[in-house]
Amino acid sequence: MPAEANAVIRKFKDSDREAVRQITFDTAFLGRPASVFFSGREVLCDSLTLYFTDYEPQSCFVAEINGEVIGCLLGARDKAAAEKIAGRKINPKILWRALREGVFFRRKNLVFIFKSFFSILRGEFRMPDFSAGYPAALHINVKDGYRGRRAGSGLIGAYLVYLKEEGVIGVQLATFSAAAGQFFLRQGFELLHTGRRSYFNHLLQKDAPLYIYGKKLL
Ligand SMILES: CC(C)(COP(=O)(O)OP(=O)(O)OC[C@H]1O[C@@H](n2cnc3c(N)ncnc32)[C@H](O)[C@@H]1OP(=O)(O)O)[C@@H](O)C(=O)NCCC(=O)NCCS
Repeated sequence: MPAEANAVIRKFKDSDREAVRQITFDTAFLGRPASVFFSGREVLCDSLTLYFTDYEPQSCFVAEINGEVIGCLLGARDKAAAEKIAGRKINPKILWRALREGVFFRRKNLVFIFKSFFSILRGEFRMPDFSAGYPAALHINVKDGYRGRRAGSGLIGAYLVYLKEEGVIGVQLATFSAAAGQFFLRQGFELLHTGRRSYFNHLLQKDAPLYIYGKKLL
């Protein structure tokens, strides 16, 4: 098969679960592996993907090249409702798993947890609530080596069609990547808000800028 074959975009299936977890883990730190800041793959994958793959799989899409899943979009039609489910049903399970697997005793994780705690104390998590105009949310990741081949735009396109069919009025997302911001602007999103997060500054030697983008659908 030619290396430049186009990606096929399709709905997520249960059998994609492991591939989606791996891609999410491998791209979680500004497009690079989460192992840079966290030790404990299953706990991290649970916290980033479990809601989407287990509670709202119908809002998820994958990009496939030559039968391999090379990108995914994890969506939620109602971000606020998803966060409630995460808080009530998913986070307690993740906490229990983290305790069982000794995740809290690893140095890298302790640094990240303490830094996140100070980030909360500094008010870095206080942000405007865009859920009235932009109720849906998304996370999108394409594997390194397959970027720039229109898998990302295909995934966004499929998700936006789906959201419109579902009568959803708008969608938002957060990213640390200014480069990804250019991608979202090209997909018709607008910048809604910028903030800063300090919990990676031991790795980046500076605060990470956080960008919130949104797109109205109706
Ligand atoms: C951001 C990302 C999803 C884009 O997917 P992709 O498959 O590489 O993008 P596409 O090939 O569909 O590009 C579509 C358009 O966006 C532009 N674009 C894509 N990535 C870009 C980047 N990093 N900087 C500037 N423009 C970019 C392309 O040039 C293209 O422009 P065109 O329509 O004018 O030709 C992918 O690069 C990625 O997963 N990056 C790492 C993780 C990440 O940052 N995720 C987003 C946070 S939620």
